[in-house]
Amino acid sequence: MNGEAESFMEEREHLMKLTKVIAVTSLKGGVGKTTSAVNIAACFAGRGLTTLLLDMDPHTGASLHLGLDFKNLELTAYDLLLDPDIVLRDVVCKTHWENLYLVPSTGTLSELDTRLEGQVGREQRLSEKFQDNLNTYDAVVIDAPPVASLLLYNVLCAARFAVVPFRTDYMSTKAIDDMNRLVKGVAKRLNPDIDILGYFGTMYDRRTKESEACMKEMKDLYGKKVFDTVIPSNAVLARAARHGAPGIEYARDSEGARSYEQLSDEILSRC
Ligand SMILES: Nc1ncnc2c1ncn2[C@@H]1O[C@H](COP(=O)(O)OP(=O)(O)OP(=O)(O)O)[C@@H](O)[C@H]1O
Ligand SMILES: [Mg+2]
Repeated sequence: MNGEAESFMEEREHLMKLTKVIAVTSLKGGVGKTTSAVNIAACFAGRGLTTLLLDMDPHTGASLHLGLDFKNLELTAYDLLLDPDIVLRDVVCKTHWENLYLVPSTGTLSELDTRLEGQVGREQRLSEKFQDNLNTYDAVVIDAPPVASLLLYNVLCAARFAVVPFRTDYMSTKAIDDMNRLVKGVAKRLNPDIDILGYFGTMYDRRTKESEACMKEMKDLYGKKVFDTVIPSNAVLARAARHGAPGIEYARDSEGARSYEQLSDEILSRC
């Protein structure tokens, strides 16, 4: 192997070792961000990747979904972002599943905008905390909030990749445009490394023409950026949350679980 090829291989090996930081994000509410973040993280963990699920939504959906015991909670994402002395490992909780770790959130996270108002570099709080300890994890999956807030800017500044779910209905493409614009703005001004890895359809109902039409429209508009995998509408995925488990653990043989396994493979091969 000549010197150039060798250094290319070294660079590639280095990149492969970097933690994959993936934000599941959309500016539209209720499109399946939390369900997807939880299941993708659980799929990664199931493949032997040490995975951190970071709950960055004050509604605490991802933390609830993993059956977190809020009574014994000491530190959360809020403390991580606010307190300069708190490092990532201080806020990481174990979960019931091997290789899967959680940074929980609570409602107080919604106070972040006010608490950090006027502070320089407030969008970079999370990415700064990622500078240490991050290589403990093979992957970090972030459940992002649905509004363009300081919290979301922190998510997008810390992420290398964004994956964007869309409900397979008529209103979806508009929300994708908004998300694209936001990521472009962040890439230009705050985090040049961020890239949209792809879009994926959720809650697909094969009995309706609407779901099919929406997928076609998305593929026409965004081509290969749309993942091949489509997440079906599957009540098991919603029921799993009530049982404090990711759908892929609660009902491994369900259509929903299988679709998230497939999507996670696609995501990993694109990273
Ligand atoms: N594939 C699916 N099939 C059936 N129900 C689903 C599916 N995905 C998500 N749901 C349900 O749809 C609702 C919204 O999903 P979820 O909370 O994941 O969306 P979200 O984008 O995180 O919402 P928010 O913007 O409020 O954070 C939840 O009740 C969830 O259980
Ligand atoms: Mg959510």
